[in-house]
Amino acid sequence: MEQKPWGGVFDQATDRRVEQFTESISFDRRLYRHDISGSIAHAEMLAAVGLISDEECRQIVATLRAIGVEIDEGRFEFRTEWEDIHMHIERALIERLGDVGKKLHTARSRNDQVSTDLRLWVRDAIDRIDSALIALQKAFVNRCPGDADVVIPAYTHLRRAQPVLAAHCWLAYCEKFERDRSRLADCRKRVNVLSLGAAALAGTSLPIDRRFVAARLGFDDVAANSLDVSSDRDFAIEFVFCLCLIAEHLSGWAEEWILWSGVEFNMLDLPQAFCTGSSIMPQKVNPDVLELIRGKTARVVGALQTLLVLVKGLPLAYNRDLQEDKLPLFDAFDTVESCLTLAAPLVAGAELKRESIAAQLDRGYLDATTLMEHFIRRGMPQRAAHHAVGKLVKIAMQQNLPLAALPIEQFRDVDPGLDEGIYQVLGAANAVAVMQSEGSTGPEQVRAQIARWQQRLD
Ligand code: ARG
Repeated sequence: MEQKPWGGVFDQATDRRVEQFTESISFDRRLYRHDISGSIAHAEMLAAVGLISDEECRQIVATLRAIGVEIDEGRFEFRTEWEDIHMHIERALIERLGDVGKKLHTARSRNDQVSTDLRLWVRDAIDRIDSALIALQKAFVNRCPGDADVVIPAYTHLRRAQPVLAAHCWLAYCEKFERDRSRLADCRKRVNVLSLGAAALAGTSLPIDRRFVAARLGFDDVAANSLDVSSDRDFAIEFVFCLCLIAEHLSGWAEEWILWSGVEFNMLDLPQAFCTGSSIMPQKVNPDVLELIRGKTARVVGALQTLLVLVKGLPLAYNRDLQEDKLPLFDAFDTVESCLTLAAPLVAGAELKRESIAAQLDRGYLDATTLMEHFIRRGMPQRAAHHAVGKLVKIAMQQNLPLAALPIEQFRDVDPGLDEGIYQVLGAANAVAVMQSEGSTGPEQVRAQIARWQQRLD
């Protein structure tokens, strides 16, 4: 009968089916580095307070490091009946060190151990997502100088609304990803708290030093309540929520570029290395990467849903349900990281179809709002100006002309004092050039924003 670390009170061996049902080693092996770091800090603390000797600590630390290398190199044996990563590593330690190895679990439970491992893992994951977000922001900002003079149509309700500078659009995405970064940074504060020392749920009667472990592992604080921390996974759920918003932002961008790169919009060429073809239609160049980025958002949102339902109604403190947190957590992270990793080169490699964009700028009366504002500047009440421009647009539409092609008399019917200067605000380029409010698409505003972003990301 295989002896379980918890087997003392048991007379029966565990049923094979139970072993298979309860195992987590197939997915939590991914925590091995963090588990080993946590165990090393714990052993050093045990020595510092005199619960083990310095020599025992030295042996434990050296052996844990050696186990880490074996796992790195794929030489470590994983077995379903050894349940999870914590028991695998401890078992290997005991196999090599005997009684000394049996001391590592002093004043510790797998409950505070898994929570610590997970916090260390999420902390690293946050830092990786943050770097990937910066790389994507850089890809957008690096486009700005080259696209500086390109005016594009911007949409509301997916109908042509007003013209903007392409760079203004790129920086819009940078702003969204910046908020994602700040959400991650905030989430990281709640992640970066030490769980170890909570033991099973009540703490321990042994004279441990949690501050020592926290300092060793780079945690900013020590969790204040052992019952709370051994049941808590909100730090992980919050991280997945942050991932959801990143995925949502990516999905909107992906949708936009799918549209822009089709012949109907004809505004953008995607890099061919990031497109795929059709097995039956020879002409197809499909935006599959963008579609998958849009589609994978569903998985990430699904992961959040899974986690929220998982913890619903759980009483204090640890419950085995919590073992199920890892699959959605890991999957959400992997998915978002891979999307970000593909998004950056895709952004860098796409080309605006300047001629096609320019040829279409006269469509959709993108300058109607600036014309209205011209009338307002000349003293007309906004509602009246809105109505008058609506009438002018209607006349122009009936003749299939842009506003700038209407004769001056037509404008003078609205405002007899008008001169040819009216044509200075008409046309998409002029409509952009006259923008001036803070945060607008006016060229000076956008120039300042590009400079701010370049400086920030430098
Ligand atoms: N594999 C478990 C998990 O991920 C570790 C904690 C198990 N604790 C216990 N008392 N069964 O949650």
